[in-house]
This record gives sequence, structure tokens and C-alpha cells, in this order.
Amino acid sequence: MKTIVACQRLALRLFLLYTVSAIFAMGQGASNLSPPYYPAPYGGWAPTWSDSYTRAVTLVEAMTLAEKVNITAGTGMYMGDLSRCVANTGSAERVGFPQLCFQDGPLGVRTTGNITAFPAGITTGATFDKKLMYERGVALGEEFRGKGANVYLGPSVGPIGRKPRGGRNWEGFGSDPVLQGIAGAETIRGVQEQGVIATIKHLIGNEQEMYRASFWQKAYSANIGDRAMHELYLWPFADAVHAGVGSAMTAYNDVNGSSASQNSMIISGLLKDELGFQGFVMTDWLSHYAGVASALAGLDMSLPGDTFTNSIPLVGYSHWMGELSKSVLNGSVPVDRLNDMCTRIVATWFQFGQDQNYPKPNFHAWVSTAEGALYPGAVVSPSGLVNEFVNVQGNHKAIAKQVAQEAITLVKNNNSFLPLSTSGQFTVFGTDAQADPSGINNCLDKSCNGGTLTMGWGSGSATLPYLDDPITSIRKKAAKVTYHASDTFPNVGTPGDDEIALVFINSDSGENSLTVEGNHGDRDATGLAAWHNGDELVKKAAAAYKSVVVVYHTVGPVIMEPWVNLPSVKAVLVAHLPGQEAGDSLTEVLFGEVSPSGHLPYTIPVSEDQYPESLDIVEGAGVQDTYLEDLYIDYRFFNKNNTKPRYAFGHGLSYTTFEFSEPSITSVTKLTRDLPARSPKGTTPVSSMNRTIPAASEVYQPSGFSTVWRYLYSWVSNGDADNAYKIGKEGTSKYPYPEGYSSEQKAGPAAGGPNGGNPALWETAWTLSVTVTNTGSKAGKASGQVYVQFPDGNGYDTPIIQLRDFEKTATLQPGGSEKLEFTIKRRDVSVWDVKEQTWVVPGLDSGYKLWIGDSSDNLHLFCNTAKLGCEEGVDSPV
Ligand SMILES: *[C@@H]1O[C@H](CO)[C@@H](O)[C@H](O)[C@H]1NC(C)=O
Ligand SMILES: *[C@@H]1O[C@H](CO)[C@@H](O)[C@H](O)[C@H]1NC(C)=O
Ligand SMILES: *[C@@H]1O[C@H](CO)[C@@H](O)[C@H](O)[C@H]1NC(C)=O
Ligand SMILES: *[C@@H]1O[C@H](CO)[C@@H](O)[C@H](O)[C@H]1NC(C)=O
Ligand SMILES: *[C@@H]1O[C@H](CO)[C@@H](O)[C@H](O)[C@H]1NC(C)=O
Ligand SMILES: *[C@@H]1O[C@H](CO)[C@@H](O)[C@H](O)[C@H]1NC(C)=O
Ligand SMILES: *[C@@H]1O[C@H](CO)[C@@H](O)[C@H](O)[C@H]1NC(C)=O
Repeated sequence: MKTIVACQRLALRLFLLYTVSAIFAMGQGASNLSPPYYPAPYGGWAPTWSDSYTRAVTLVEAMTLAEKVNITAGTGMYMGDLSRCVANTGSAERVGFPQLCFQDGPLGVRTTGNITAFPAGITTGATFDKKLMYERGVALGEEFRGKGANVYLGPSVGPIGRKPRGGRNWEGFGSDPVLQGIAGAETIRGVQEQGVIATIKHLIGNEQEMYRASFWQKAYSANIGDRAMHELYLWPFADAVHAGVGSAMTAYNDVNGSSASQNSMIISGLLKDELGFQGFVMTDWLSHYAGVASALAGLDMSLPGDTFTNSIPLVGYSHWMGELSKSVLNGSVPVDRLNDMCTRIVATWFQFGQDQNYPKPNFHAWVSTAEGALYPGAVVSPSGLVNEFVNVQGNHKAIAKQVAQEAITLVKNNNSFLPLSTSGQFTVFGTDAQADPSGINNCLDKSCNGGTLTMGWGSGSATLPYLDDPITSIRKKAAKVTYHASDTFPNVGTPGDDEIALVFINSDSGENSLTVEGNHGDRDATGLAAWHNGDELVKKAAAAYKSVVVVYHTVGPVIMEPWVNLPSVKAVLVAHLPGQEAGDSLTEVLFGEVSPSGHLPYTIPVSEDQYPESLDIVEGAGVQDTYLEDLYIDYRFFNKNNTKPRYAFGHGLSYTTFEFSEPSITSVTKLTRDLPARSPKGTTPVSSMNRTIPAASEVYQPSGFSTVWRYLYSWVSNGDADNAYKIGKEGTSKYPYPEGYSSEQKAGPAAGGPNGGNPALWETAWTLSVTVTNTGSKAGKASGQVYVQFPDGNGYDTPIIQLRDFEKTATLQPGGSEKLEFTIKRRDVSVWDVKEQTWVVPGLDSGYKLWIGDSSDNLHLFCNTAKLGCEEGVDSPV
């Protein structure tokens, strides 16, 4: 749908489009700072994928050139045919390979009904609970499979949350690579165990929405240093590959001056060779800029098939499909590159058993009625049955509610004001407490902020099947409730001393394709303040009432300074983005049926001035976004800068108290400074596939085939095919290969290996344990978080502490205790050495301190890796 909006603007911008494309073309050559990495590495060398590759090679060898090309691209935006998803690839039905259905989004099956709208990624991160992350993944996988989607377009771990105003941070799990990496991997495991292919996205540097690529403008360039790339941004992608993720999506932005979808260093160098990724790489929607160059760089799939540039968009032009057929015939794209693209796609399909009884799509992403246009993008389209309304909800509301609830983060609770008694007298303020009276799904992709904020906007949203809203739930539990459904403070007279005000406020963000209340995806208009004058509403309630409780639904960090220290503001709950289960999940916490156990997946600052300037939103087409802060984002920066935030990363209170005791450390694998040599890549059957340029007739359009306007086909006219073949055969004209181009497969980097890099990185170096005891008077769950501190003088400027593992206890009764165990891997104590171009472990002699606690600023015991001993009752390092 974003394209429809874009199309309206398009007419006004045609002139601009051509002007900007000209500048774009110049800029492309001039500012390409990413080093070349060629050729694209073949897949198939990781042992865990070899059966799937053997089968894929047999199937792909049986395909004609037109069939191979057909499966590497979508059939066009809104051109779903009988597979009716946000993208559908072409098929090779003759040999039994179907169209594949690609569907948004990370928190639920988008734009269709009878699904579950799960809590968002940021909410899931705030649970700090691996099991819940996994179970949400299982439920998502069941729903995507139930709807017949082959590919789940999630999880998102990029943006990582570098910029507090960034529009799509809420789709991911929080501003830390380990939190993103673990949550992403658990999601992938859960989804893929259902036979659904997960997609790790967006590769890489998609840290803001404004000035991303679009029809009319060149994208910003994310200029990321090599060390920050490895230690922050690529880190969660490594976890995803380690978890066996089947596909990856590139970003809308450039990286170091070259478009992410044709940047050979990030696709072929980092993802495929260093991390050993065996699946396939797709573009983000329409961000495909060149045919031959992107294929050479390692891109495997163009989605939804058409492009932003080099054509009037959406008239049936693709850089691949027919153009790729010609590029192979004329010798510019080597046959082995196409074979590798296809075997990556087909092997992934085998890897998840999709050749066995995988359901066909039974919904339509763009049409909500039972019958509708089969090709909504064509002007004239036949119609037919498009929606079968399959209900895929199962009992998923239970896991959706549990995630929403265990994410709720109590950041302030003066004198244990919460929990509330249901017999109290409550006055509730703020439209965020109620379901939007104009309908819970009354705007496109949640591009309006009315009522309870359940998710951000854009392609990462889903249709709410229903909404369990807070005010209805409050009224179910308490008898004396008055609600003012307004964001303007009403005249309340003189409230009694024991009357309690509950104030609901929110802060929203989303995708740049839609603007909401002046915010262009990023929170460029509102900043980190509450929307709809929410801060005023709280201040006025705090002036009138003796006791105020604030509930904040938010996409990310917010500024609470206008009211958080007012004496009448007794308690503040950050309820994140709860999805459909926003009511009881919250009120059971408010009224004390369960203790809150969420923790902040980012820092809450005192003011935006506390962040370094390089984290501001950058503006202008083609603007440079240079990562000057390097490793120092979120709490890494606050700690280095010795700045106290309002609430630290990892902070979260409970109704009870916990004591951490009896820390212990065990050495598992002895480490050395240098990474052990990797074993050579295994062989792959892809390398013995036929590389001869096939006959031109393999792409002749069949005579009498009646085409649908705008549909993308891999066939070309006989004349074009013959001409291309002639060029390839005679070598009369040569493709201008990029600098550094080679067709010799490489051995791969020292840090590389199958399943997430050199296997030594994944070895457990130490295990830690700690006993957590409930020392309070209420039941509750505790969060255990482990942060590493590198020894002084280790030779590398490294953040003071960095999260490395976390676990959550079960519900502990008063007096109850549980032993939590953590693992520290080699990579957790490594730095990326930019000169040596590999990981090293620099602090073995003096030893690393492994801090244990329940927040980044509440760490009072540590174990030392050199002494293999632990200390308790010490001062927190920050
Ligand atoms: C981007 O440029 C920086 C600075 O020159 C360099 O350290 C880094 O390796 C480059 N990364 C990529 C992916 O090109
Ligand atoms: C490409 O895929 C489309 C959609 O499934 C199909 O109609 C067409 O026949 C396929 N082309 C080839 C060469 O198989
Ligand atoms: C859910 O399914 C029912 C049929 O079981 C259908 O009538 C209804 O329209 C569907 N809801 C949505 C929002 O698609
Ligand atoms: C081969 O065809 C592609 C697609 O049309 C074109 O971009 C490329 O320049 C051609 N190569 C040669 C050597 O003509
Ligand atoms: C906590 O409440 C007491 C009164 O009960 C008040 O004096 C104090 O200022 C409050 N502290 C904060 C930080 O709000
Ligand atoms: C902390 O950050 C601010 C804002 O970037 C900067 O002005 C100040 O110099 C920094 N202080 C330290 C000690 O790094
Ligand atoms: C390789 O492909 C070419 C072109 O399609 C064909 O002529 C040749 O027979 C194939 N070789 C083998 C060994 O199958």
C-alpha cells in the first residue's frame, strides 16, 4: 500500500525524479567506499545444509534458463496471481517448484484477519525472557504457515536502535546487540521449526527512516566503521545465521556509499563468507538499482520484482526477469552465479521441508473480501476467490498476553505505591486508555494514533482481530472508576486525597512511507515527548491529585522529566507496545495479581542533549550518516560519558525484592588470544554444475502465451534472446566489471565459518551461576543480566560494560530461590581487530570481570575469569 501513496506523490515529483536520478548516477561512482568483495561465494559448504543443497542442485539442473530466472524475482507489486502475498516469486512448475509467498511482518500476518496481533519486538525484548521469545516465535510460525505464507518477513534486528528517534526501532528488540541477537535467534528457531522460512533484516544500517530510498530520492549512506559493524550492527545477524535463518533482506539505505542491495562487501563478504550464510538474500521492496551489478554483488532475489528507478515505476519493468535472462545469455552474469542464486533459494525451501505438503496461500494481502481481483495491480483483472478466512489464532492469545505482561516495566514506585487495591477510587485520563472510538483498524497500516497504542505504523503492523483495551479491563476489576476520554485535562473540582489518577499517554513512530501527525516515520516532529500533549496531561493530574500513576505506551525512549519527579507521581509503568492484549495484561499488574517483571530494553535519558550529536536524524537526499559515536550507543555512551540517565538500560522494579548470592564461575574451554585457524570451507555441489551459456531458445516467450499487463516474466522476444546469446558467444562487447572483480571462489576470511563464523567464536568459555532469592513479601520473577567488563589497558577502547547473557527466574514465592546459569562464549570477550581483520581476546591475563545483577546500573557481584573467583557486595561499575 505504501506504493499507492507514493504514486500520488509521483506525478508531482517526476521532474525531481529525473534530476535526482542524474545526481544519483554521478554519486554512485564517486563515493563508493565499500571495498569490493568478489565473487559471490557459493552456498552449500556448511554440513548442516548439505542434503538440501544436493537435492536443490538436482532440481535446478533440470530447470531451463527462463525457469531459473523466474524463481529469483517477484512477479510484480500487487501482482500476486493466485498466491496473493506482499510478494510472490515466479515458479518453475514444470519441475515442481512453486511460487513462494512472502509476507510481512515481524509481529503478525499483515493486512489480513483471523490472526493474532502479537506484542511488538521492543515489547518482546523487554521481557528479557528467552523462553517467551521462542514461544512467540512458535506461535508466529504457526500463523504464517496456517495462512500459507512460505516466508515470514522478520525478525528485524536492524535498526538496532542507534537513534532514539528512529522510526522502526520498535520492530526490533532493543538498543543492544546481544538482546537483539538472542531475541532474534529465539524467534527464528520458533518460526522455522514450523517449516516457515524466517528473514533476518535489514542488512544493514537502517537506523533512520527519513531519506531512505524511494521513487524520488537517493538514500542516505550509513557509514559504519569496521569495528562497530562487527561488535554492534552485524552481531545479531551472526546469531541469526547461527540459528539457521533461511533468508536475509537488505536495507533501503546505502552502506559506505553503495546501495545495500548491491554492496558486495556486506552481502558477499560479511554475510555469506564471514558469517557463512547458506540461505538467500532478497532486496527490500523495490530497492533494486541495477541488474548485473546486484547479481555480481551477491543478491539472490529481487522483490516484489519491480524497481524504484530506471523506469516509470510499476509498469512491469524489472532489473531482473527478462533482463537477467539476457544478462546470462550475453555472458555478463556468469551462469554459475545464477546457479548459486537458484540453489540458495531451492535449498532453503528443502531445508524447511516446504516440498512436503506446504499449504498454499489462502488469504490476500491487498483484498479483504472473499472474491476480488486476482491481479490488483493490473488495470483490468479477472476476479476469483482470494480469501478463505482461515483462522490461525489457535490459543496464541495466551502467549501474546504473557509477553505483553512480562514486558511491563515498572520504572518508579515511590514507597511501594503499587499495586493498587481494586476497592480504590480511580479517575482515568487520556485517550490512550481506550480503544480508538473510530475503529481499532481505522487507518492504513496503523498510520494514525488514536486510542491505545498497540504497535507502531507501517509494514511492521498487523490488523487487530480485537483489542482488549485498558479502560474496559480496569472497569471489570474496579467498581469506582471515572474515565475522561480526552487528552485535555478536564475540570475535576477538588479530588479527595484518596482518589487516584491513572494517566495514559503514548509515543508513536513507524515507516517513512506514511506520515503521522507530522512525524515522517522517525519521531522528527514530536521528538521524545509524549504525543497529544501527554506531558501536560500528567502535570495537570499531578497538580490536582495526591497520587498519580502513569502508564506509557511507547515505541522507544521518552523524556519523563516534566513530571517524573513530582511528589504526587507515585508510579510509572512503561507498557511498550502490547498488541491486542493491552488490557488484562496491564491491570493484573496494576492490581497486584502478578508483579511486574519487564526491564528497559534501552536507556531513558534525562534529555535528548545527553546523546551524542551523531545520533540525530540526518536530513537531505543522499545525506551522509557517519557513525562518529562508533561503539558508543545507548548505555555504552552514557557510561563512557559518565552521564546519569533517568533510568538505565535493564532497569525494572518488582513488587517484591530479590537477593543475588553465591556467584560461581567454571572454566569450560581454555581460550588463547588468537582465534584458532578455521577449517577450510567444505565442498559444495554447486561448483560442479554446468556453466555453459544455455541456448537462447530457453528464454523464448512461448507463442500464444497471453500475458497480463505489468506481470513480470523471465521470457524475452526471440530477437532479444538471439542478440544477447550472440554477444555472449562472440564476446564482442564486454561488461565493465567493477574494480576488484574476480570469478575465482575465495577460501573465506579467518574469522569466517559455517553457521555464524569461525566455530571457535561460539565455544563456551565459562559458565556462571547465581542464586536468586525472593526476599520480599510478594511473588515475582527476577531478571538476571550478565555484563562483561574488559580489563584496563587491554589495548582496545571498549565500552565499560556490555550485556552478554540474561535469564529470568520462574515465579518465586516469598523466600523461594532459583539458581540461574549463564554462558560466556569466546565472542563475548573478543574485540574485532581492524588491522588483523579478525577477532582477538585481549584480556586473558588480568581477566575479565563478569558482572551479574538485574540492571546495567545495579551490578553488585562479579566473577573474574583469570582468578576463577567471584566477589559479592561490591560497588556497581557504573
Ligand atoms: C566502511 O568504511 C569504513 C571507514 O572507511 C571502514 O572501516 C569499513 O570497513 C567500511 N565497511 C564496509 C562494509 O564497506
Ligand atoms: C514463471 O512464473 C509464473 C508464475 O507462476 C508462471 O506463470 C510462468 O509460467 C513461469 N515461467 C516459466 C518459464 O516457468
Ligand atoms: C474471519 O473469518 C470469518 C469466517 O470464519 C470471516 O467471516 C471474517 O470476515 C474474517 N475476518 C477478517 C477480518 O478477515
Ligand atoms: C547484457 O544484458 C544486460 C541486460 O540487458 C545488460 O545490462 C548488459 O550491459 C549486457 N552486457 C553486454 C556485454 O552487452
Ligand atoms: C516519594 O513520596 C514522598 C511522600 O510519600 C515524597 O516526599 C517524595 O518526594 C517522593 N519521591 C519521589 C522521588 O517522587
Ligand atoms: C559527554 O557528552 C556531551 C555531549 O555529547 C559532551 O559535550 C561532553 O563533552 C561529554 N563528556 C565526556 C566526559 O565525555
Ligand atoms: C551444459 O549445458 C550446455 C548448454 O545448455 C549443454 O549443451 C551441455 O550438454 C551441458 N553439459 C552437460 C554435461 O550436461
